[in-house]
Amino acid sequence: MPLEEVAKDPQALKMGGRLFASNCSVCHGSDAKGAFGFPNLADSDWRWGGNAQTIKTTIMGGRMAMMPAWGEVLGEAGVKNVAAFVRHELAGLPLPQGSGADLQAGQQVFSTTCVACHGANGQGTEAMGAPNLTHPAGFIYGTGLTQLEQTIRHGRQGHMPAQSELLGNDRVQLLAAYVYSLSQD
Ligand code: HEC
Ligand code: HEC
Repeated sequence: MPLEEVAKDPQALKMGGRLFASNCSVCHGSDAKGAFGFPNLADSDWRWGGNAQTIKTTIMGGRMAMMPAWGEVLGEAGVKNVAAFVRHELAGLPLPQGSGADLQAGQQVFSTTCVACHGANGQGTEAMGAPNLTHPAGFIYGTGLTQLEQTIRHGRQGHMPAQSELLGNDRVQLLAAYVYSLSQD
């Protein structure tokens, strides 16, 4: 049965929900809304993709995100400028008074150093799990300038553990249908 159909079967969703509570809620929360470092699975922001089959692929094989550390490459001023650019120009959030950041220099850094993964407009690349930087609601490492600088300076390597060996195809099928159902209306 296609996953989209399983996701409409109340009995399957009940089983999926039980599997979620015992295997996933420790990281993603019992409401699946995530926490610092753990994505919300109940909204429409997806790092790796939100169609049913992609969700299943994520759960079966796990995911290893790779955001490089830029501190040494960019220096402190470069980190601060591009963090301010991300926060203000991409995420559309205000900057604190007198932040002293050079947004134009930040844009320069972004277009040479970040676009390869996050895309020309910051829209992200699902194939790499590079998040959309224009949707601050989907950020898992915080939207404050200090948090953004920290992410850019030191990088991030979020790891979703593979479940195929632990749970097997049938249970992952129920989990994928359950997770998929959470973001449908
Ligand atoms: C090689 C690909 C790659 C490049 C280049 C890259 N990033 Fe990332 N970035 C990622 C990935 C993958 C993640 C997700 C990390 C995770 O989930 O642990 C990420 C995460 C982030 C986040 C955190 C978003 C959140 O969810 O909180 C920010 C901010 C960010 N990148 C900004 C930048 C900036 C600014 C640059 C350029 C200086 C840059 N990235 C360059 C791949 C990249
Ligand atoms: C040890 C903690 C941990 C557990 C347990 C865990 N996850 Fe995750 N999961 C993560 C992290 C961290 C990420 C984000 C990886 C990244 O940075 O891209 C993630 C990502 C995901 C994603 C991709 C979200 C997106 O935006 O594309 C899905 C789907 C998912 N998990 C489902 C599950 C399900 C279902 C279970 C239970 C079988 C589960 N996870 C168990 C840590 C966990």
